[in-house]
Amino acid sequence: MTRIDSLLTAMTLEEKIGQLTMIAANAATTGPTSQHDLPAAIRAGRVGSVLNLWGSKETSELQRIALSEGPHPIPLFFGLDVLHGFKTIFPIPLAEAAAFEDELWEKTARAAAVEAAEAGIHLTFAPMLDICRDPRWGRIAEGPGEDPVLGARFAGAKVRGFQGTNQLRGSRLFATAKHFVAYGAAQAGREYASVDISERTLHEVYLPPFRAAVRAGVAAIMPAFNDIAGVPMSANRTLLRELVREKWGFEGVFISDYNAIAELIKHGVARDLAEAAALALKAGIDIDMMGGAYERGLPVALAREPALIGEIDAAVRRVLKLKEELGLFATPIRPSGSTAFAAPAARRALAREAASRSIVLLSNRGVLPLKSAPRRVAVIGPLAAERHEMLGPWAMTEWADDTINILDGIKAALLASDVVSANGVSIDGNDDSGIAAAVQLANTADLIVLCLGEAASMSGEAASRSQLDLPGRQEMLARAVFDAGKPVVAVLSSGRPLTVPWLFDRAEAVLSTWFLGSEAGHAIADILTGARSPTGKLPISWPHSVGQVPIFHAQRASGRPANPSDKFTSKYLDVPNEPQFAFGHGLTYTQFSYSNLRVGREELPIGDPLDVTVDVTNTGARPGEETVLLFIHDVVASVAQPVLAFRASAKIALAPGETRPVSLTLPADAFALVGRDLNSVIEPGEMEILVGPRAERQELLQAKVRLIAR
Ligand code: GLC
Repeated sequence: MTRIDSLLTAMTLEEKIGQLTMIAANAATTGPTSQHDLPAAIRAGRVGSVLNLWGSKETSELQRIALSEGPHPIPLFFGLDVLHGFKTIFPIPLAEAAAFEDELWEKTARAAAVEAAEAGIHLTFAPMLDICRDPRWGRIAEGPGEDPVLGARFAGAKVRGFQGTNQLRGSRLFATAKHFVAYGAAQAGREYASVDISERTLHEVYLPPFRAAVRAGVAAIMPAFNDIAGVPMSANRTLLRELVREKWGFEGVFISDYNAIAELIKHGVARDLAEAAALALKAGIDIDMMGGAYERGLPVALAREPALIGEIDAAVRRVLKLKEELGLFATPIRPSGSTAFAAPAARRALAREAASRSIVLLSNRGVLPLKSAPRRVAVIGPLAAERHEMLGPWAMTEWADDTINILDGIKAALLASDVVSANGVSIDGNDDSGIAAAVQLANTADLIVLCLGEAASMSGEAASRSQLDLPGRQEMLARAVFDAGKPVVAVLSSGRPLTVPWLFDRAEAVLSTWFLGSEAGHAIADILTGARSPTGKLPISWPHSVGQVPIFHAQRASGRPANPSDKFTSKYLDVPNEPQFAFGHGLTYTQFSYSNLRVGREELPIGDPLDVTVDVTNTGARPGEETVLLFIHDVVASVAQPVLAFRASAKIALAPGETRPVSLTLPADAFALVGRDLNSVIEPGEMEILVGPRAERQELLQAKVRLIAR
C-alpha cells in the first residue's frame, strides 16, 4: 500500500477535508480577512496548506506542529504571491513582457524562487497569465499584455523558472497558473465583473497561455473569480475538468482563488455553502482557499450526496501527491540559506538588467541619451522620490527601504551635476500648492526629469480605473513645468498605459517605466545617460483615449474596414482607430531598417514549419539591439482572421552600419486557426508574412506563402 493509500485509509472525513483547506496567516492581506487559530486548526488536522506566511522560523514552527501534533504526519505546504520577486523585486510582469525575452523571464523567476524557497515558501500563486486588452482593468499590470502568443511564451518561461528542475529541489517553487480563465475580459474593465466572450475568442486569446503552462508542467492552476457567460469559473466543470484535466492532461491541483468557492452563492448559482462546495468539487477544484466552503459545506453536501466521497478522496490524493512531489514528506522543513542562485548582489544586478530591458522609450526628439552631465537637473513630480511605489501592487514584502528610487538613481549617475528635486503635487488628490515651488526649481535647471504616474495601489487587484489619465493634479504640474521652457524628459511609472497625448506633444522624450522594482532608479538613470540603450517594446497597444478600449493589434477587418475618406466604414468621429503607440512600439538610441525578406518556401505543405529571414541594418550612429517582430495574416479563411497576428520575435545586436540576417522559424501550428467547430485547423490558402519593428502594417515588410494540403 502506498503512503497516500495508507493515509487515506487512516484519515477521518474532517481530516480529509482539512487537506483540501488552505488558510491565510496574516503576514499579508490579499483578501477579506478572518481570524483563525492556525496552530489549533493544524493540530486538529483541519488545514492542509497555509498562504501569506513567510520566514523559515515562522513556517518551520507551523510545520513542526503539523508533523508532531497533528493527527497524521502530513506536512503543510506554504503558498505566497511571488509574482515578480520576493526580497529582490523585479519589474512587474507587464513591464517584463516588454523585454520580449524568454531567457530573462526565466532567470528572474528562478531568482525569486531561490529567495522565496529560502523563506520557507513551497508554492507561488504565479505566473498570472490573463491576457488583457482593456487597461481600465487594474490587473493588466500582473500579466503579459494583449497577445496570446507572447503570453504563452511568458507562461512557459515563468513555469520553468519557478519550478526549476528536480536537481534544484531545495530552491524550487511550484508554480500556479492563474487566473483561469478570461479574467482580463471583465466587462467594462471593472474588477470581478462578469465576462461574456465567444467560445472562439476564449480559444483564440485567453486559453493559449494556460495551455502553455500545462505543457510546461505547471503544478497548480487557480480558477478566476469571474463567470463566463453566467458560469462561474469555480463551478466550471466543462473548462476545469473536461478541457484542462481530460483533454489537456493536467495532473496537478486546482486551488481556488480567495473565498471564491463560497462566493458561488453571491454569483447566484448556489443556495448555500454545501451546494457551493459540491459544485466546486465536481468542477475539479481540490483546495478551497480561505472560503470555509469545503470545511463547513462538504459534510452537508456529502449527507445530501454520499457519492461525493469519491471526489473528496480523489482531491485528497492530488494534494498529497503534490506534497510528495514537493519532497515535503522527505524534507518537510527546507534547509535555509540555499545559495543555488548567486548572492543577493547578483540578484540586484539581475533586477537592474531586467528593469532596464523593460523600459520602453515611447518618444524622443533627440534629447536622450544625455549628451553630457547637465549643470543642474531638476527631478520633479510625485514619483521622483518614491520607493515603495516602485515595487508595484504585488510586492509581498515590506522591504522597500532598499529600493533605488528615481532621484537616487539620477544622483548616482550624474555625480557632476547639481541634482535638485520637488514633488510639486501628490500622486492623487487636489493639492496644487506645491506647483509654484516646483516651477521655481525648474527655472533654475538645465534639464527637467518629470516623474509622473500612478500609485502602485492604482493597479493590481481591486484597482480598476474608469479613466486612464494622470491622477490628481499631475497634469497641472506638468503643464506649469513645461511653461518654464526648459527641456523636459518625462518618466511614467504606472501599472497600465496612460492616455496623455498632450505629454507626448510637449516633452522632449517620454519613457514608460511601469513599476521596475528594487533597482528602478538605477535602471532609469542607465537609460537616461546612455549607459544602457532602451530595448523594450510595448506588449500592449497604448491607447489615445479610454474610449478606444478594448484596443489591440489582432483586430478582425470587419466588412467595412476603416477608410478615412469613406463615411460608411469602421471608425470614430472624434479619435483615430489606431492607438497612440502600437503593440511592439519602442524606440532605441539608433535606427534600424529592414530589407530582403524571404521565406523558406513559397508553397508550404500543411504541417510543415516555415523559415523566415530578413536583413536588419543599424542605420544610426550608435550600437543598438532590435527586437524583430513577425506577424501573419490569413487572407481568406473559414473564419475571419485578424489583419495582423503576432507570431514570433527575435533579437539582434548591431554595430552602426552593420547588416545581418535574422531568421525566425514558424512552427506548423503558427498557421492554425480556431475553426467553425472550435477545433484547431490549418487551412490551405494564401498567408501573408509580415516582419518589422511593430504592429504598424505600413512599416512591415511582406511576403506571401501558399499553404497547400498534403
Ligand atoms: C487574491 C488574488 C489572487 C491571489 C490570491 C492569494 O484574491 O485574486 O491572485 O493569488 O488572492 O493571495
